[in-house]
Amino acid sequence: MIQPYEIENNQLSIGGIKVSELVSEFGSPLYVYNESVIRDRYTTLVNAIPYPHKRLHYAMKANSNLRILKLFLEMGAYIDAVSLEEVRLALHAGFSPDKILFTGINLKNEELHWLVSQNIRVNIGSLHMLQKYASLFPGTEVSIRINPDFGGGHHSHVITGGRESKFGIFYSQEGNYNQIPQAKQIIERAHLKLVGIHAHIGSGILEEKKFIELISLILSIAKHFPDLEFVDFGGGFGIPYRPHEKPFQFDLFAEHLEKTMQKFTKEYGKEVIIAFEPGRFLVAEAGILLTTVTEIKHTPKYTFVGVDSGFNHLIRPMAYGSYHPILNAFRVQGEQKEVVIAGYLCESGDLFTRNEHGPEVRSITTPLEGDVLAILNAGAYGFAMSSNYNMRPRPAEVLITPEGPKLIRRRETFEDMIRFFV
Ligand code: LLP
Repeated sequence: MIQPYEIENNQLSIGGIKVSELVSEFGSPLYVYNESVIRDRYTTLVNAIPYPHKRLHYAMKANSNLRILKLFLEMGAYIDAVSLEEVRLALHAGFSPDKILFTGINLKNEELHWLVSQNIRVNIGSLHMLQKYASLFPGTEVSIRINPDFGGGHHSHVITGGRESKFGIFYSQEGNYNQIPQAKQIIERAHLKLVGIHAHIGSGILEEKKFIELISLILSIAKHFPDLEFVDFGGGFGIPYRPHEKPFQFDLFAEHLEKTMQKFTKEYGKEVIIAFEPGRFLVAEAGILLTTVTEIKHTPKYTFVGVDSGFNHLIRPMAYGSYHPILNAFRVQGEQKEVVIAGYLCESGDLFTRNEHGPEVRSITTPLEGDVLAILNAGAYGFAMSSNYNMRPRPAEVLITPEGPKLIRRRETFEDMIRFFV
């Protein structure tokens, strides 16, 4: 797999461009994405699925930069969208309505009307919403999201299957909490055509067996619905963040997928399309947040390295205690210091090196004022979850293309931030 960066003369480059050059041209802090890594991950995933009729719906919530969406369009991807605005952006990027699957929840009637008027396929995740959809649009096509009574993911906040999750029409083999018969009844009464069955059980999953279990379960439900065009197993493929984590082994689930699909096709009597909805796997490793050291301070317990960014630009350490590898881009190797890397916001939790409980020290080549730190694996749920907290503007985004670095979102200004006040 292609790496997002190179090390030359102990300095970090991204796609052949020195970090020092990127920062002097575009400023700091800065999000940089390496296009060749996005292409590589997309191709890796397409090739890892041993089935001819397949679709990858890019989960655009992971990174919705317009230029990145256009890249996915060009590569042949479909879209997983979860808000009307995501749909509008995907349409604006050039995706046709039939390439978009909408899996948003808690919809108002007018939102459903808009989606249907735009010919967007709506994937419905509760009996209540299915009933509402059935009354508003009888005789149309629909897809349903199942909660298979188990989930997975890197943190409890991102597990979307199981009894504690708000998502999906519940399916359980235990007890009498199986909502599928009721869903079937609503579908039949309103003459809806159920063309898709979907599940997304969580995010950042590194256990291949979760997907094996999910595929078997979804197909066992799918065989009871005769009009299916697709089954969608959601996203959630993890990437290694911590040094001991291993990459997701697609070959471990591919064999199962191939066998189960062959068996399913025979029993079902026709081939259906299979879909996945990866976000993180496609863009996380391609993205690096560059931030400059502004001060170094000590307490009896820690050395804090202060930088010109914070959880307003990358909230994952604060929200989930997530680990992101961090390199000193100006001296990748050399004498190491144990430090805590601290953001510039007025909250103690604003640390780039922390776990769920608090600060976590990190070994890094002795940082000095003016050094640029590279926070790796920041391409997914980085910029996408950013904010203006403390009235701090969002950074610029740059894509390293074969033709060189391209600014794909300009840095926010004070004027940008105050334009909504009335
Ligand atoms: N499909 C649906 C319906 C989803 O809700 C999601 C993610 C995906 C696909 C894509 O999942 P992925 O392949 O990226 O794991 N902010 C969190 C992740 C939240 C994921 C939300 N849903 C984080 O930074 O870890």
